[in-house]
Amino acid sequence: MGKVSLFIYVTIALLLLLLLSKSPNKPHSNRRHRRLKVRSSFNFRPAHHEPVPFDPLVADIERRREDRQWEKQYIEHAHHELSHNHDAAPGEEAQPEWEDFMNAEDYLNDEEKFNVTDRLVLLFPKIDVNPADGYINEDELTDWNMQQAERDVMHRTQREMETHDKNKDGFVSFAEYEPPTWVRNSDNNSFGYDMGWWKEEHFNASDADGDGLLNLTEFNDFLHPADTKNPKLILWLSKEEVRERDSDRDGKVNFKEFFHGLFDLVRNYDDEGHNSSHPSDDTMDAPARQLFGQLDKDGDGYLSDVELLPIIGKLHPSERYYAKQQADYIISQADTDKDGRLTLLEMIENPYVFYSAIFTDEDDDDYIYHDEFR
Ligand SMILES: *[C@@H]1O[C@H](CO)[C@@H](O)[C@H](O)[C@H]1NC(C)=O
Ligand SMILES: *[C@@H]1O[C@H](CO)[C@@H](O)[C@H](O)[C@H]1NC(C)=O
Ligand SMILES: *[C@@H]1O[C@H](CO)[C@@H](O)[C@H](O)[C@H]1NC(C)=O
Ligand SMILES: *[C@@H]1O[C@H](CO)[C@@H](O)[C@H](O)[C@H]1NC(C)=O
Ligand SMILES: *[C@@H]1O[C@H](CO)[C@@H](O)[C@H](O)[C@H]1NC(C)=O
Repeated sequence: MGKVSLFIYVTIALLLLLLLSKSPNKPHSNRRHRRLKVRSSFNFRPAHHEPVPFDPLVADIERRREDRQWEKQYIEHAHHELSHNHDAAPGEEAQPEWEDFMNAEDYLNDEEKFNVTDRLVLLFPKIDVNPADGYINEDELTDWNMQQAERDVMHRTQREMETHDKNKDGFVSFAEYEPPTWVRNSDNNSFGYDMGWWKEEHFNASDADGDGLLNLTEFNDFLHPADTKNPKLILWLSKEEVRERDSDRDGKVNFKEFFHGLFDLVRNYDDEGHNSSHPSDDTMDAPARQLFGQLDKDGDGYLSDVELLPIIGKLHPSERYYAKQQADYIISQADTDKDGRLTLLEMIENPYVFYSAIFTDEDDDDYIYHDEFR
């Protein structure tokens, strides 16, 4: 009897608490609410590129969330049989996956804990360093994005390293390395992207000092050849590009193979942000022939791996390319006086350019405001 009434009291108290916490506790002077978002789903394919969070604190939340999703996938794939008779602490397994994420997002949206103005004031001097003149220019913002991106990339590499380095000696050997499941599962004549990736030649090219083992730097290059400084790996990437484009399998890229595939990529790289409507083949033929002629150094009418090297960075954009693209986008959105650089005031007045946010109107007319880059 006593136990039951206690139970009822507790339940009612909890319900009241829940209602109170859900009900709006402040009058809304503003017609629009905003809610900051953190990413909730992650794609682990290396070909996919996501913008990096501007604020390291948001990045940290996303990283932890991504780790959790990654671990879950890894356990499902690698230890499928183990996951069934795995004794988790009671409640731990049953806990919905999004719960921590919602808490983290709630934290960001609690204006007393996470004040966007204060964050921007705190971050500004860390970005405005070259020179520290009270303005954030494109280079400074690109460098900042790069730092965030590098931290993310290295974090993922370390995570991968731990799973591949089976004997825990700090190196990955080719025997230890297992390609990602989506590579193993893809059939051999599917999309050419997978052809030479994650194979021994790719591994050897990443092994800068040729000791048969990849240390963390080399393994990171292996996973991200577009960002490497290792000339062997850059040449491998170029060879791989030839293999992928070489539809008649003669080992070289002829004009037709160049025009249908490569040229568009190079052109879109140069035209970033401009109108990407596709003019007819006829109008593009001349510029394509001109570029082909410039690249074809020995004039044999074909492009070899070495001849593709000058454009390999455009075919495989680096982190720096994305960092700059993201910087340009942010500046274009927040640079109120259009002088090409940001002051702290401009940032404070346009805070949500720096954070992914959803805006909700009072009349429930939700719409999503988010970044445009791919
Ligand atoms: C955020 O901080 C700024 C300056 O520190 C302050 O003026 C503003 O009222 C704060 N906003 C909220 C919602 O607390
Ligand atoms: C792909 O080809 C290799 C040999 O080249 C073969 O061992 C493998 O089974 C093939 N995979 C599929 C999914 O067909
Ligand atoms: C990779 O390098 C090893 C020596 O470290 C060599 O035995 C192997 O044949 C090479 N593989 C390829 C595909 O080049
Ligand atoms: C890995 O080896 C390369 C030489 O191949 C070296 O330059 C680099 O500093 C090493 N990285 C680490 C993390 O030890
Ligand atoms: C892009 O192209 C479309 C159709 O070709 C045109 O209507 C539009 O005005 C162009 N936009 C810009 C920014 O040039």
